[in-house]
Amino acid sequence: MADNSIMEKITALCKRRGFIFQSSEIYGGLNGFFDFGPLGAELKRNIRNAWWTDMVQRRDDVVGIESSIIMHPDVWKASGHVDGFSDPMVDCKVSKQRFRADQIFFAAVTVDGQVQGYVSILENESVESDLQKAAETLKRKKAIQGTLAPVAVRCFTEATPEEIPLIPSPATGEPGSLTPPRDFNLMFQTQVGALKDESSVAYLRPETAQGMFVDFKPVVDTGRVKLPFGIAQIGKSFRNEITPRNFIFRSREFEQMEMEYFIHPEADWKKHQREWIDWCKNWLISIGIGADWLSEYEHPKEKLSHYSRGTTDIMFKYPFGVQELWGIAARGDFDLSQHAKHSGKPLDYFDEATKQKFLPHVIEPAVGVDRILLACLVAAYAEETVTDEKGQSEMRTVLRFSPRIAPVKVGIFPLLKNKPELVALAREVETTLRAHMAVFYDESGAIGRRYRRQDEIGTPFGITVDFETLEGAKDGAYAGQTGTVTLRHRDSMKQERIPIADLLGYLMPKVL
Ligand code: GAP
Repeated sequence: MADNSIMEKITALCKRRGFIFQSSEIYGGLNGFFDFGPLGAELKRNIRNAWWTDMVQRRDDVVGIESSIIMHPDVWKASGHVDGFSDPMVDCKVSKQRFRADQIFFAAVTVDGQVQGYVSILENESVESDLQKAAETLKRKKAIQGTLAPVAVRCFTEATPEEIPLIPSPATGEPGSLTPPRDFNLMFQTQVGALKDESSVAYLRPETAQGMFVDFKPVVDTGRVKLPFGIAQIGKSFRNEITPRNFIFRSREFEQMEMEYFIHPEADWKKHQREWIDWCKNWLISIGIGADWLSEYEHPKEKLSHYSRGTTDIMFKYPFGVQELWGIAARGDFDLSQHAKHSGKPLDYFDEATKQKFLPHVIEPAVGVDRILLACLVAAYAEETVTDEKGQSEMRTVLRFSPRIAPVKVGIFPLLKNKPELVALAREVETTLRAHMAVFYDESGAIGRRYRRQDEIGTPFGITVDFETLEGAKDGAYAGQTGTVTLRHRDSMKQERIPIADLLGYLMPKVL
């Protein structure tokens, strides 16, 4: 069941606390484009860094590259994007709204075997029941007598030319305004150089993957890599989506983290694919997205992309429905053979051990940073009733980010801002920790308020310099000892004392 209120709360929190803003907001915004504020930029960077560390630096079989965003236009002819990277688009002539045909569903309203009209709806979690209700409403409005048949749901892409004028527009609810679907290429075009003609047309890349295929040869020649091995990249991609939606889930400018894993053509690709699906799932768990949020979806053969011989998506339970987070595709040798053919340059791999020459096959885990970031926000978001220091109940909003990706790792607070000894020590702690991690110093307001402010942005640890720091701990393992601080844990809200000298050693392994 879609839960729009959670999305609204997360969107509002992102705006209020500086995670994500609408792009160019002072000019009214630009649909499908977003800006990341101070906390969002930090969170995104932490996600990217965690992936790069685990995918590239900590593996001896994957190397990283950064290819250009604008590539030779022939790359996109060879890859099939110029001819085939399109979505079927439908216009509503009355409302001037534009829809993806494969996101409009419709059904005939059949009473006693006679078609009495049509109903339609945009893709959602309950298409069939919504269409059934709409069919009942139509029957009632038209005062038709007889038995209504259960609706047979169809996609607008399957509508016959005779049916199209009879299907109501999802924008107006009235038939007669929808155009037949036509292909709309999702690549953004631009022009390279001063000439503005056909010869200067170029594209903003719609995926980072082609960089890895086009650079396959130089990487093999220079990278000291041996099959099986991967080439990875993180970078911006652009798609002129017809209906960008669900906040940053489907946008027009987004960031991908893709890895092409090259294997022997006779290797067991299903086994490799399975290993990568498991790797991706475990990695998501390692950055705080619990296994309960995840599921797998294997694409049916007839729905595979032009390059794929098998794709499994890792799905995430977003508030607006279970949706694709990470696709793991077996691309065969489609891309290398296309680029060899179109460029006229052989892209064979020479295997020293067997003296064989061949085009490797590929397993590709491809994911969007923005989609992971949204999944992290959704999985981390919680509201709970807690009791404050005066015994009063209050609601706290908390983002339970894994310390590894949390934008701020530690909040540092002097208990009182008008006690120079406390402030000086807190500033000292801040300087020590700031050299190693993102920290936030806050001396304004009651300590409980300061904790709540950090809870809301997902800061996992709070350090308070208090009177026991100066006078000696009252009890516990450090009783009588000065130079200890209160360490507060965000999720349990438990507090413990820890010597200032032990802070770095305690925090570092948790936040890296
Ligand atoms: N190289 C293969 C490829 O690009 P894809 O399924 O089209 O495959 C891979 O994209 C991933 O990129 C998706 O699983 C998703 O996480 C992300 N992605 C794709 N389109 C996106 C969009 N419009 N906005 C945000 N993320 C997107």
